[in-house]
Amino acid sequence: MEIVSDKNTLISLLNKNRSSVRGLIPTMGNLHKGHLDLVYKSTLDCAYTVVTIFVNPLQFGPNEDFHKYPRTIEEDIATLKESNVDLLFAPSVNEMYGEDKEEQVIVAVTRLSEILCGKNRPGHFDGVTTVVAKLLNLISPTYAYFGQKDWQQLALVKTMVDQLDMQTKIVGIKTTREKDGLAISSRNQYLTKEERSIAPLLKAELDNISIRLRNGETDYEVVETESKSNLSRVGFDVDYIAIRDSHRLCTPDEETKSLRILAAAYLGRTRLIDNIGF
Ligand code: PAF
Repeated sequence: MEIVSDKNTLISLLNKNRSSVRGLIPTMGNLHKGHLDLVYKSTLDCAYTVVTIFVNPLQFGPNEDFHKYPRTIEEDIATLKESNVDLLFAPSVNEMYGEDKEEQVIVAVTRLSEILCGKNRPGHFDGVTTVVAKLLNLISPTYAYFGQKDWQQLALVKTMVDQLDMQTKIVGIKTTREKDGLAISSRNQYLTKEERSIAPLLKAELDNISIRLRNGETDYEVVETESKSNLSRVGFDVDYIAIRDSHRLCTPDEETKSLRILAAAYLGRTRLIDNIGF
């Protein structure tokens, strides 16, 4: 596996492999089974797999965990070497954005970036789409793989690629879960023992909503409100529970073909997100 931290070397290495079907897995490192499922899919689909590790300051708010975010580059490199990855791109913040971050061009997917997680994390998704646009431009992958756990992020990236006529195909991969249902995330390690025992109840509540919808409940607002109190009762501080159109993430309307049930909630200081299809 080649390891590169500057853009020029990245581009010259990629130019040597111009004709290969290329897969990209953008990450912020601290790799876990969820990331490795994306890597595995890329190695099945593509002749050449690129992973990026970059903790992107643009997508963290001033009171968020940018400085505390787990950085485990040595372990990540060892894991990727065993996973048939061809190239790791791990740039510094200066390499990615230059000296003057204030002058950075921002790629914003309006509306989709302002709802759900975007409501309480202003600027977060603009940071995500900006860095993903830069990575797609630098690497020109045939496919780029994203976890469905970050359903809103996936919807935003698909919209950006579509509207900016980018050529990469965005592939969403099913959420990887612990045995008790908790969606695997780097942030799970922040949970205390007690919080970790409560955390799977988030997925259980999404399943509960799905059962209620299957049983014919159609008043989504009532279902959302009741689920919110169920979660509050067991210790979550709920940001939102929302039954939405899968693709547009708006409240379901006559054009809706499938639903997505999405949630974000805090356990202590840790923000958990999850979603399931319906
Ligand atoms: O999902 C993530 O880890 C990040 O948001 C991403 C896509 C790597 C962009 O920084």
